[in-house]
Amino acid sequence: MRDFLTELGIEENNSGVIIGDLREANGEVIESISPVDGQLIAKVQMGTAEDYEKVVAKAQAAFATWRMVPAPKRGEIIRQMGMLLRDKKAALGKLVSLEVGKILPEGEGEVQEMIDIADFAVGLSRQLYGLDIKSERPLHRLVEQWHPLGPIGIISAFNFPVAVWSWNAFLAGVCGDSMIWKPSEKAPLCGVACQKIDEQVLGDHGYEGVMGMIVGTADPVGEKMIHDERLPLISATGSTRMGRRVGAVVAERFGTSILELGGNNALVVMDDAKLDLALSGVLFGAVGTAGQRCTSTRRLLLHKDIADEFLGRLMKAYEQVPIGSPLDEKTLMGPLIDEQAVKQMQDALAKVSEQGGEIIYGGECLSGDDYPGGCYVKPAIVKAHPEMDVVKDETFAPILYVMTFETLQEAIAIQNGVQQGLSSAIFTESMRSAETFVSAMGSDCGIANVNVGTSGAEIGGAFGGEKETGGGRESGSDSWKAYMRRQTQTTNWSEEMPLAQGIEFG
Ligand code: UN1
Repeated sequence: MRDFLTELGIEENNSGVIIGDLREANGEVIESISPVDGQLIAKVQMGTAEDYEKVVAKAQAAFATWRMVPAPKRGEIIRQMGMLLRDKKAALGKLVSLEVGKILPEGEGEVQEMIDIADFAVGLSRQLYGLDIKSERPLHRLVEQWHPLGPIGIISAFNFPVAVWSWNAFLAGVCGDSMIWKPSEKAPLCGVACQKIDEQVLGDHGYEGVMGMIVGTADPVGEKMIHDERLPLISATGSTRMGRRVGAVVAERFGTSILELGGNNALVVMDDAKLDLALSGVLFGAVGTAGQRCTSTRRLLLHKDIADEFLGRLMKAYEQVPIGSPLDEKTLMGPLIDEQAVKQMQDALAKVSEQGGEIIYGGECLSGDDYPGGCYVKPAIVKAHPEMDVVKDETFAPILYVMTFETLQEAIAIQNGVQQGLSSAIFTESMRSAETFVSAMGSDCGIANVNVGTSGAEIGGAFGGEKETGGGRESGSDSWKAYMRRQTQTTNWSEEMPLAQGIEFG
């Protein structure tokens, strides 16, 4: 095993079930193959339906204890997880790069995002405020308080294999919930590595079963989770197709879900924009993470007066993007996650001309010694129009659809004219255009940025989107409320028994 993997506790064969002393998985063994070179990193044995039952039992038992630990004490434990993550940032960042193919600075950036949310959660652990509401009755106290919800389920995707788990786990942890995590089968080693970190800290404090993990397939493990009445909340990140299923099943049993699903994010460049800024924003948004963020820039809307100049500059910038091993410092774009993703990209591009678009840059698969493993592609730029079906779909790959517009209103209509509603951005020097874009008649997305690209949000804000993006909010702001239940409490400290609404009864 390579040193950094050993540092993370990764072995050749790993159990995909880790919760307290339960380390036994009895399911199929999956191989984690690196998209960097097509080589095996290590194996993970998945959990079965029976293993799942044992995991839930542990999480349930842990909840009974954890919910009564004072929140700031829970925060202290999350703080120590943040400290351990600082020690392991390089190793974990490298594992992220190796297992999912993002470049090293982005792998480490993801671990930084975990550290940031840990810090945020620590502060929150001394807050979790309820309201003091004025009662209409004399000598009555009316307040709201927040209680832990229960064991919760977390389902995460391959593209942010560690950070998105921590958004959920660290908030849920300070809120007093225990949890079960099903990481993506495409990034099981990231799951094992995070799990070893949190288990080490929890174990040092004598807590068992607070944060559990089970690597498994959508059926049985995912299905069991979403049907399980013992899990009042399911937080799921992934495709809209997956979210539609999760949302419906969880709602049927009156559970709640946090859904963070597909995006189809547009970036608008006005004729008065600083084009250099816009260019950097588009480049990071469209090519960064090889177009595999839910916040990736998928649609570029150019004002007709700057369209030709901007596109010319963008194509030059694309030509200079070094593509190759994400572990190589010079690289800016690594491989896609697997060959299936490459095929999906090719399928989308194959539809472009029949739908009236034109591929004006890239899109081809790269092969040869510099590109082992079959997952490297050139990012594509496509001249498109808003009515094309491919433009309306989220293809999880570096395809940028470019369209032009004449007025801001038209740009906003195009931006809002898709089913997804995650992220959006405008580049302009005009205060009026910027304010219009972020106003109630502007972008309909959960995230709307001015002179900032569509991707790379900070953890302090609530993260998530509208429409088919699922409506959930994670990470900062008051997202913590989804991990708790609200209790409205009235105390009568008078010696009378007045009724609300002035009702006289008997
Ligand atoms: C995701 O792609 O699922 O805003 C999350 C961003 C990151 C998170 C992306 N902070 O791009």
